Amino acid sequence: MLRDGGLVAFPTETVYGLGANALDARAAARIFEAKARPSFDPLITHLADTADLERLVGPVPAAVAALAGRFWPGPLTLIVDRPVEIPPIVTSGLDTMAVRVPDEPSARALIRAAGVPVAAPSANRFGQLSPTRAEHVVQGLGAAVDVVLDGGATRCGIESTIVDARGPQPVVLRLGALALEDLVAAVGPVSVRPGSSGQPVAPGTLAAHYAPRTPLRVVSGVEPPPGDGRRRGFLAFREAPAGGYAAVEVLSPGGDVTEAAARLFDALHRLDAAGVTEIHAEPAPEQGVGRAINDRLRRAAATWSAPD
Ligand code: TXA
Ligand code: MG
Repeated sequence: MLRDGGLVAFPTETVYGLGANALDARAAARIFEAKARPSFDPLITHLADTADLERLVGPVPAAVAALAGRFWPGPLTLIVDRPVEIPPIVTSGLDTMAVRVPDEPSARALIRAAGVPVAAPSANRFGQLSPTRAEHVVQGLGAAVDVVLDGGATRCGIESTIVDARGPQPVVLRLGALALEDLVAAVGPVSVRPGSSGQPVAPGTLAAHYAPRTPLRVVSGVEPPPGDGRRRGFLAFREAPAGGYAAVEVLSPGGDVTEAAARLFDALHRLDAAGVTEIHAEPAPEQGVGRAINDRLRRAAATWSAPD
């Protein structure tokens, strides 16, 4: 199916990807069409094995090779020069390419069997919640996908960390499933591009993304909802609020950010289906993958905050 230019959704350790042959411009175009994704938003190319990187792109900077060697297969996406074999549509015309080796045996077996690099964004419509189960893909994309491989719930539940390590100091372009702390332990200081941490950016300028259909608001802690009779949902990090919410999801009763990340999008999908008028979301502790959880919550909330 991939070799014939089809679209195959498949599980990775992070979220489900919507895959197409990365060497085939027409197949890549179908990804943008199926997701209603703007053509300026480049795709990630997935490889079966770390050794395939140099086979595809030739020699890479030492820091890039070191990160690949340390964290692949795994939830780290690296920026490299785009090889001529990869059509510009995959990288939205950039002369760089995002690439990773997923840590999910079935995904790597799929890519290996296809015998081509696989371009795959998250398998959701543009701007909406990322899929962490095959059902989410079917609900969101339906007939636009040729095949959905069902591998159950994904392990990490949040997208890969994107790092540009071509310069003197690595730059984190997107917070994700590989914790900042683990990255720093391996390579020393990194900088985080403003906007990917969510903090240094003025309200309203955040990219609206990763959003449920229901308006979402980040609240500072567990607080009762206003008693105006409207049905609201609550996304709790550790502990359910005492009462007043029509639907509640608790991400990690044990207070574990990794477990919370794995459940985040599934919980938001359920709250979105619970018939509530608003979702209140409590942030995670700002540590490890908790940073990526908070990044996604801020972006989801940005969709719904009225511009002032
Ligand atoms: O965990 C993941 O990364 C998942 C799974 C399927 O691998 N994929 C994923 O893809 O999250 P997507 O398309 O939803 O997000 C990819 C992001 C884009 O938003 C884009 O901004 C960034 O990667 N990106 C792609 N190519 C880039 C490049 N050459 N330079 C900078 N950023 C790039
Ligand atoms: Mg995405």
